[in-house]
Amino acid sequence: MTQPQPGGASEIDSRDVVELILADHREFERLFRALRNRDENRQARLRELADLLVAHAEAEEREVYPELKREAPQDREEIAHSFEEHQEGHEALAALQEISDADQDTFEERLEELVETVTHHLDEEERDVLNAARENVDVATRERLGDAFLQARNDIIAQSPGEPEKVRELIATARDQDSSSQG
Ligand SMILES: [Fe+2]
Ligand SMILES: [Fe+2]
Repeated sequence: MTQPQPGGASEIDSRDVVELILADHREFERLFRALRNRDENRQARLRELADLLVAHAEAEEREVYPELKREAPQDREEIAHSFEEHQEGHEALAALQEISDADQDTFEERLEELVETVTHHLDEEERDVLNAARENVDVATRERLGDAFLQARNDIIAQSPGEPEKVRELIATARDQDSSSQG
């Protein structure tokens, strides 16, 4: 069974990393609306969301944030904070994936927690990281970053990174790194 490919960054006609990231953010919101709808195939939408959420965050961390830190050192703190918020998003995703029956009230409760966690991150990232990138990073660099972001995002999505056991693994790895970096 092939998964429907998520829209967002892969569907827009721009190479600017800021525009590509924003397009994915709007795709998250579309998937949240679908997941709130009881008539939808919620488990299918959740698989789409999980793949996109993990791939989007990884592509940002790998291809975008390190370069933005170099280009705009004043935004370092916001960028470090984004890593923490990705982890929180993955934790809320894993909690939702534990609910096998999408008609349960618990599914909707955990969905709202996920929506709140991710929406908070999208708002902050747009305000503090992307607005700054638009001001401080030139178009040629934003396009180079956009190409790298999209390539990484699509490569990661192709590996179904949102499968529940992979999400749990990702959370555990990030926790290990966090505790070892705190010594
Ligand atoms: Fe993002
Ligand atoms: Fe992010």
